[in-house]
Amino acid sequence: YNADRIRNFSIIAHIDHGKSTLADRILESTETVAARDMSEQLLDNMDIERERGITIKLQAARVLYKSKVDGEIYTLNLIDTPGHVDFSYEVSRSLAGCEGALLVVDASQGIEAQTLANVYLALENNLEIIPVLNKIDLPAADPDRVAQEIEETIGLDCTDIVHASGKSGIGIEDILESIVKTIPPPPANADKPLRALIFDSYYDSYRGIIVFFRVVDGQVKKGDKIRFFKSGAEHAVTEIGVMTPQQVQVDTLRAGEVGYVCGSIKDVLDARVGDTIVLAQDYKDSVAAEDVMEPLPGYADSVPMVYSGLFPVDADDYESLRDACGKLKLNDASFSYEPETSGAMGFGFRCGFLGLLHMEIINERLSREYNLDLIMTAPSVVYKIIHNGEEINVDSPSKFPDLTRDHETLEPYVRMEVLTPSEYNGPVIELGQERRGILIDINYLTPTRSTIVYELPLGEVITDFFDQLKSRTKGYASMEYSIIDYRASDLCRLDVKINYELASALSTVVHVDNARSVGGRLVKSLKNLIPRQMFKVPIQACLGVNVIASESISPMRKDVLAKCYGGDISRKKKLLQKQAKGKKKMKTIGSVTVPQEAFMAVLKLD
Ligand code: GTP
Repeated sequence: YNADRIRNFSIIAHIDHGKSTLADRILESTETVAARDMSEQLLDNMDIERERGITIKLQAARVLYKSKVDGEIYTLNLIDTPGHVDFSYEVSRSLAGCEGALLVVDASQGIEAQTLANVYLALENNLEIIPVLNKIDLPAADPDRVAQEIEETIGLDCTDIVHASGKSGIGIEDILESIVKTIPPPPANADKPLRALIFDSYYDSYRGIIVFFRVVDGQVKKGDKIRFFKSGAEHAVTEIGVMTPQQVQVDTLRAGEVGYVCGSIKDVLDARVGDTIVLAQDYKDSVAAEDVMEPLPGYADSVPMVYSGLFPVDADDYESLRDACGKLKLNDASFSYEPETSGAMGFGFRCGFLGLLHMEIINERLSREYNLDLIMTAPSVVYKIIHNGEEINVDSPSKFPDLTRDHETLEPYVRMEVLTPSEYNGPVIELGQERRGILIDINYLTPTRSTIVYELPLGEVITDFFDQLKSRTKGYASMEYSIIDYRASDLCRLDVKINYELASALSTVVHVDNARSVGGRLVKSLKNLIPRQMFKVPIQACLGVNVIASESISPMRKDVLAKCYGGDISRKKKLLQKQAKGKKKMKTIGSVTVPQEAFMAVLKLD
């Protein structure tokens, strides 16, 4: 152990610029992972990550590297981070545990919205930033142009910028050398009392909760009795180790090092991300001496941007859902949940997410990792209602007050920055205007690339804004946003009635001027999404007691099995099975079975 030879760094980049692939090459070239165990995007170990080709979770790995310059062996702790905005809480926690960051930029694309956002995060954390031009193997790579872009927009010196390719392995040694040379070792004092910061954790059914941490001061050994500062829980350490990236046990971890600990911790509330681990004895001594130890600053809590309801299809699964949410929250501190009951939907949870992708991923993890069949309602932002001088937060459209004139409604606004080739400035601005945006600024990064800044309601962003932006710019634009404030808007609740029964899970909040148009499109879309029943089903959009749009689903004429008459039995069986499967994700409202897709209809209106 020599703290001077430790380097803690993150890899940051815009989505798809090649972080995970570059991390693979680093693990491979340092022989951290044997060639036979190597697989693509090794650090993306969740099924969902591999299928979608995106990183969702931060992932730490310890790499030993012998420097060609001084022949010494360095311990490099690498943290691979997600690129998508919805997972920026993972990025901010990773960066807080590092002294440096590799900024990976695709040499054929250049700087994108999340490149900038991640750079700002790194700068806030006082990190040393090493820019890397990646995908240099691509014929379309234009390293000189992109290097100039980095110099001009971020202000990093690019004279000696590393040219790399995660795919063909170019430049990996240069990257490792510049990490050793440029990134400072962690400020570390192994003789002080232990203080370690928890940056991640997950639930393992055999070993209990596994906690990932960085030792800031002091040291921790197997057998030590540790205390989680904020929760006050104490546990004996049964195992500590490092991630290579497989977990490998060690005896001691000292200041500056990164590792994991477990100690038969069963309660998910014991070890929270951001909490400080200390030694139980040190804590006791400090209390006795009336000079109680200070915990580490931890992390700012993540603030959910959108909320939606999650309900088990089968009411008996409610307890399992509660348990699953608790375990998932342990592994994803930006997810939040609270019990919610709704007439037709039964018992469930109101859940908070950082964005739509985050919401989708949580839904998928709950069904896959915990085997739950769930119905999810459309996402909503948090509105503020001011009534008689009192302010209330409303995170569900069904709780939004009826049309009256004696309250004021406010909605969250975001500052959005769009990066696009300048030829698409027109379509981007058109989209911004359609979504009630206020154009703030247009800047030319280079003669052919612009940043367009808008202020617009978050509610307009969480529907299909990103899809629209991509399709109107042929996939070239990228975006990034953050909440700035709440502003007064003329909003109202639009209700849906199915077979004359109020479907509160389908209510949505819209701007008064758009109510008619949204109502009309919503009932049309629902008409196509809700299957025919044995009877005629009217679908109405209402503002208060007024019906503003309606459609009806005509009744089913024939028995679905009729066309199989006399046919072979296996075909009949298949049809019945198909029906049974389709029934899985449905809820009954007004004697009508409503499928999952209908709950999301408001997100994709033509
Ligand atoms: P997120 O974690 O989702 O943000 O993506 P990422 O930045 O980790 O990117 P990833 O490593 O998953 O790579 C994205 C795509 O680019 C994959 O299809 C890779 O095969 C490809 N890719 C990565 N590095 C290179 C490279 O150096 N050259 C070429 N030609 N393709 C690359």
